[in-house]
Amino acid sequence: MSNITFTMIKPDAVANGHIGKILDQITTAGYQITAMKYIHLTEKTAGEFYAVHSERPFYKDLVSFMVSGPIVAAVLKKENAVADFRTLIGATDPSKAEPGTIRNLYAKSIDANAVHGSDSDENAAIEASFFFSNLERF
Ligand code: CMP
Repeated sequence: MSNITFTMIKPDAVANGHIGKILDQITTAGYQITAMKYIHLTEKTAGEFYAVHSERPFYKDLVSFMVSGPIVAAVLKKENAVADFRTLIGATDPSKAEPGTIRNLYAKSIDANAVHGSDSDENAAIEASFFFSNLERF
């Protein structure tokens, strides 16, 4: 069990003014932010980040959506970080997300689903390193 996960606050949640409320919900849940940046992804970067989904029918729409506006990327630290974060954000499809979860509160659709959360310890490490050098992690 690792103690980090990686998240992005996606373009929909940023555009709708939800950065502050989402970060508050994350830190209130006990996460420490150990790295963070506010950036606008390029098609190349978004495509590489989601390369694992490149054969899926939703890949093109997913990449287009992720470059539609700026995002906040962060590394979060807490015991049982990956599993607890997935509970905190709720199901990928917000219509199936539990009440009070971040996606239930702030997401509108499966693409515009407000936040990303790593699905395994291995991917958390890969995704955190994709966005942040060691000098940017505390
Ligand atoms: P995320 O956790 O960022 O990982 C991949 C993203 O693809 C996912 O959130 C959704 O926003 C998006 N997506 C769109 N359609 C699907 C689907 N059918 N299954 C899973 N993810 C999907």
